[in-house]
Amino acid sequence: MEKTSLHGMWSSRMAFILAATGSAVGLGNIWRFPYLASDNGGGAFVLVYLACIFFVGLPVLIAEILIGRHGRRSPITTLASITRETGVSKGWTGIGWIGIVAGVLILSFYSVVGGWTLRYGWLYLAQLFGGAHITDPGAVFTSMLANPAELLFWHALFMGATVGVVALGVEKGLERAVRFLMPALFLTLLLLVLYGATTGHLGQAAAWLFRPDWSKVDAGVFVAAMGQAFFTLSLGMCAMMTYGAYLPGNVSIPRTVAIVAVCDTTVALMAGLAIFPIVIAFGISPEGGGPGLIFTSLPLAFEVMTGGIVYGLAFFALLFVAAWTSSISLLEPATAYLVERGRSRKGAAILMALLCWALGLLTVFSFNLLSHVRLLDRDLMGLIELVANDIMLPVGGLLIALFAGWVLKDNILREQLAGIPAWGFALWRWLLRVLCPLLVAAVLINALL
Ligand code: PFF
Repeated sequence: MEKTSLHGMWSSRMAFILAATGSAVGLGNIWRFPYLASDNGGGAFVLVYLACIFFVGLPVLIAEILIGRHGRRSPITTLASITRETGVSKGWTGIGWIGIVAGVLILSFYSVVGGWTLRYGWLYLAQLFGGAHITDPGAVFTSMLANPAELLFWHALFMGATVGVVALGVEKGLERAVRFLMPALFLTLLLLVLYGATTGHLGQAAAWLFRPDWSKVDAGVFVAAMGQAFFTLSLGMCAMMTYGAYLPGNVSIPRTVAIVAVCDTTVALMAGLAIFPIVIAFGISPEGGGPGLIFTSLPLAFEVMTGGIVYGLAFFALLFVAAWTSSISLLEPATAYLVERGRSRKGAAILMALLCWALGLLTVFSFNLLSHVRLLDRDLMGLIELVANDIMLPVGGLLIALFAGWVLKDNILREQLAGIPAWGFALWRWLLRVLCPLLVAAVLINALL
């Protein structure tokens, strides 16, 4: 008999698609993807990244959602019950723990950067009403980073928005938020791309994004592309497993997952096509923009272009919404677990948010009070990103692939994937059993060397 979720259910397939796309589409698409592509050989990076999404991301995403839907509980509880059911080592429950720890680490810095989007949105809103112009965006960015109190304030506000949704629960919080926010996000992005086209530099931007510079491709590009594929699809930390637990039993997982992956990739490419035409049109080189690309180069263009302030406001509102619908999926797995351990949802969400906020102090201070601290050639935020994004997500993904590919009983897989053709099933299982582990392990070893 099919289990029911304690935490509520998505009311329809569409609700799940919006929520999962909301989780996938985030800072990873709009903030990280454009500068990663720009710094790693343009089209060459995009190709490697697409291959990672297709051959690794999609199969693992299907596996996560399938496991979640079978267990209908938070990842830790689900994995514990599957290990009991199948009589395999309880050690596999560790996947759920890796997920919770990675989620807490990621949310700690994600919320700080989410706070930047609020701060910039606020700056453009103020400008619209006659506030001071951002004449020197580089200085605005640097002075924001130098001020811990300011960073903490915006970080707290962002975390407050996240906890506000998660505390309300699956139907009243998560689903209601994404139903409204995701269409608004797509529409805004579309308008921004259309505007980008009017600058007359769309072609150049597309060339920048899609023309491969093979000379830049080295092992590092593969590491970055694989890390980005995991990060952007919210994989390896059981967020999608948690969302899968609320998915109605009659929905086809592979078809639904394909839609989510296509939407996620489309948004990343569109973000590139919204950002680069403007940057190029105003004579700013997108090369080597790094993490500051959209916080320094883009505002430079906003100051001189017609309607730049409105564009700036729309852009940072878009970025905030994208980050918000992702951060709720970072908080949900741990919250659901604590609810299963007997806490109220509100209490659980607030407790986890406080923990993530406090951990966010490390990221905040990495720009100012502790900027001198460097480990493995990285500052504190870089270190958290390295551990969580580049190591824990791929390790989590690798274990999920092995667990679903080799450990899960055939009848569970077939029940969850009912309706998929035999060749599709065989291909999916081969990818999980062989190709994904090999590719991810190779990239991980590379990242660690
Ligand atoms: N997918 C999100 C992004 O691209 O910004 C980030 C993310 C959300 C990663 C949720 C992991 C996660 F569980």
